[in-house]
Amino acid sequence: MSEKDSIHVVILAAGQGTRMRSSLPKVLHPIGGKPMLSHVIDTARDLNSHQISVIYGHGGQQVKDTIQDESLNWVEQKEQLGTGHAVMQAAKLFKDNDVVLILYGDVPLIKTETLTEVARSGSVGFGLLTVHLDDPGGYGRIVRDEHANVIAIVEEKDASDTQKVITEINTGILATRGKNLKQWLSNLDNNNVQKEYYLTDIISMSVNDGIAVETIHPEDQFEVAGVNSREQLAELEGILQERQVQHLMAQGVSFQDPSRFDLRGSVETGQDVFIDSNVILEGKIKIGNNVRIGANCVIRNTVIEDNVEILPMCMIEDAVIGENSRVGPFARLRPGAKLKSATHIGNFVEIKNSEIGNGSKVNHLSYIGDTSMGEGVNIGAGTITANYDGANKHRTTIEDNASTGSNSVLVAPVKVGKGATLGAGTVLTSDAPENELTITRVKQKSIKGWQRPSKKK
Ligand code: UD1
Ligand code: CA
Repeated sequence: MSEKDSIHVVILAAGQGTRMRSSLPKVLHPIGGKPMLSHVIDTARDLNSHQISVIYGHGGQQVKDTIQDESLNWVEQKEQLGTGHAVMQAAKLFKDNDVVLILYGDVPLIKTETLTEVARSGSVGFGLLTVHLDDPGGYGRIVRDEHANVIAIVEEKDASDTQKVITEINTGILATRGKNLKQWLSNLDNNNVQKEYYLTDIISMSVNDGIAVETIHPEDQFEVAGVNSREQLAELEGILQERQVQHLMAQGVSFQDPSRFDLRGSVETGQDVFIDSNVILEGKIKIGNNVRIGANCVIRNTVIEDNVEILPMCMIEDAVIGENSRVGPFARLRPGAKLKSATHIGNFVEIKNSEIGNGSKVNHLSYIGDTSMGEGVNIGAGTITANYDGANKHRTTIEDNASTGSNSVLVAPVKVGKGATLGAGTVLTSDAPENELTITRVKQKSIKGWQRPSKKK
């Protein structure tokens, strides 16, 4: 294909997907945490297509609202009268010289390299993606003449018994020039068993016009697998996960059990990363070198720097974990948790919208919210920042080398000065001065000769 050839991708996404038994339009069901349709759109983008038209119908508004992309041509197909009818809805957008490439919103794992081949073939004539299946039932069959040239596609329901034996099937993915396609679409009819406008009828039209149909085959069969049921959705999810994990292992990541890991998004990793069983990574994740992630952690949109250890059972979202830090087990880092280097966050600790300075430790049973914490701070077990007065949130400042006693409550806005110590059980309502012990509890006393009440006889 030459530089000035522009690819116009058409994605058919109007089908209802009855067999999903869902109120969610089929193409919005996710694979790897992303709607199937978005996978197809992203692949179309990788091809450097200059136009992407999405044919929508069932649940159209919901599809548009979810995908939220104004650079796409959203084309409505009000009634689903067949694949040919679907493509006709976008025909006025095809320029004569466009290489029009037809894709399907429910065929999510098609590879860019395969489509590049189909588009190249379409630019010089007609490219059609086909595969051989042991069980071709339900698919359109590729009919060839005695010289093995493609002459037609016949749908299962219209096929003769001899045609039904053909194992080469139509994947539906094809490409050709806009000029020819518009011409052929205008000649389609629905004189067939299903009373549908079949896109597949353009194959024999092309042959009749002297434009031979070249067949291309995908490297892997999953590329052309469509989703009609939840079972097929789960199958493709498994294939995607398997491919992702293979890629990560090649990048230097070890998995305790590759089949018990899920990536729903993208991850950049360093070397010598070890991931234990049942870890789920979501959104955009960055992991440095020499990182260990313990079992059963769910981590979303987070940066994990070098030499970090995350112990089992942590829930981490929109956080930054500085180098040489240790988190967990059972820690929760909420959005805006920024841990500097060599921090320790222990069990049953929740951190939200707070910076934790170098070497600071929050080891047990604490809530730290809306806080700026300096370096070398030690937070005693059960320390709570009371950041919410019922109406507004307030900040807490804890300066370098401060230490809070167990069960302290820091009622924000409040500051604990450098090197300050809080006694156990302190309820801090005004600032604690630097380097002093601040304590708010009643002085301990013992009452001599005091007797427990006893039951009256
Ligand atoms: C079609 C092909 C068949 C091929 C099979 C591969 C035709 C006539 N047949 O079968 O040769 O083997 O795909 O799966 O093209 N769609 C619309 N609007 C419509 C009809 C369909 O957008 O009016 C969309 C569906 O959402 C789906 C795709 O087109 O994504 C294919 O439709 P489907 O009904 O699954 O395929 P068939 O027509 O059975
Ligand atoms: Ca159909």
